[in-house]
Amino acid sequence: MPAQRNTTEDDITADVLQRFAETPDQRLRQIMLGLVKHLHAFVKEVELTEAEWFQAIEILTEAGRMCSDKRQEFILFSDTLGVSMVVDLISHRQPDGATESTVFGPFHRLGAPELPAGGNIAALDKTGTPTLVSGRVLDLDGKSIEGAVLDVWQAQSNGLYDSQDANLSGLHMRGRFRSDAEGRYLVRTVRPVHYPIPSDGPVGRMLRATGRHPWRPAHIHFVVSADGYEPVTTHIFDRTDEYLGSDAVFAVKDSLICDFVRHESPTGEAARLGINQPFLTADFDFHLKPATEQRATVLDAQRRLAALGAAG
Ligand code: BEZ
Ligand code: FE
Repeated sequence: MPAQRNTTEDDITADVLQRFAETPDQRLRQIMLGLVKHLHAFVKEVELTEAEWFQAIEILTEAGRMCSDKRQEFILFSDTLGVSMVVDLISHRQPDGATESTVFGPFHRLGAPELPAGGNIAALDKTGTPTLVSGRVLDLDGKSIEGAVLDVWQAQSNGLYDSQDANLSGLHMRGRFRSDAEGRYLVRTVRPVHYPIPSDGPVGRMLRATGRHPWRPAHIHFVVSADGYEPVTTHIFDRTDEYLGSDAVFAVKDSLICDFVRHESPTGEAARLGINQPFLTADFDFHLKPATEQRATVLDAQRRLAALGAAG
């Protein structure tokens, strides 16, 4: 008897699933079987045409070409499709008192300078309102954590990250701070603004074609890490921002919304730091939970991605 050939769409799906069925690593087996099942179901549901299949290949190729150590178009796709936040929520299902996480985004860069408490990450930003962000890094019992590293990055007041700004070549709006013996940290910056995510690539075309806006509410990014604790990748958001309810990447969580309070004249810390105009303060404490297992952190992954981009 000649070997039975696949004749229908469902035959192919069954055959592909069969080929992955003996995958030795059980987690990889589960992922591959789920991927094939859902990918095939999607293609059949929408009855993807050959022209559309080619278009998808073009889009992925272009996304790959845009990736570098400064730009990650695949993360942008994941973020705008809501996948990043679904992964985030699955990874942090149990409320445990630790600071909530949110998307990492495509704009983190390695090599931010180590700055002292009160160091200014916005030294070249002449138009933003000076802002002091302070608070403490604490454990789940409220005990201070000394020596925690706060890796901070933010868009400039023109709405651009340093890597997007043709007038800049180096790093700007980035710094690494350490908490003191009481867990305190102090970052000098400018008021965060809302800004559109990059729309000069395939993600931008997707947003336009689907009638979606590209705006993210004003925020500051943090990765807070300390020995013996699970690092948290998060943002703080400005409570007054008009896009809190429609973030292009679905990343707002209530617990991360913060008051940026205006002060007309600089006193105390602001005067000591040489601020001589109206300024804002924001107060936010980070709570870290003990590390349970040696998990690869998002920063490890970022290092690998950056190395790939830099090699390209
Ligand atoms: C950001 O906040 O930098 C960002 C996050 C997700 C997508 C685009 C930008
Ligand atoms: Fe951002």
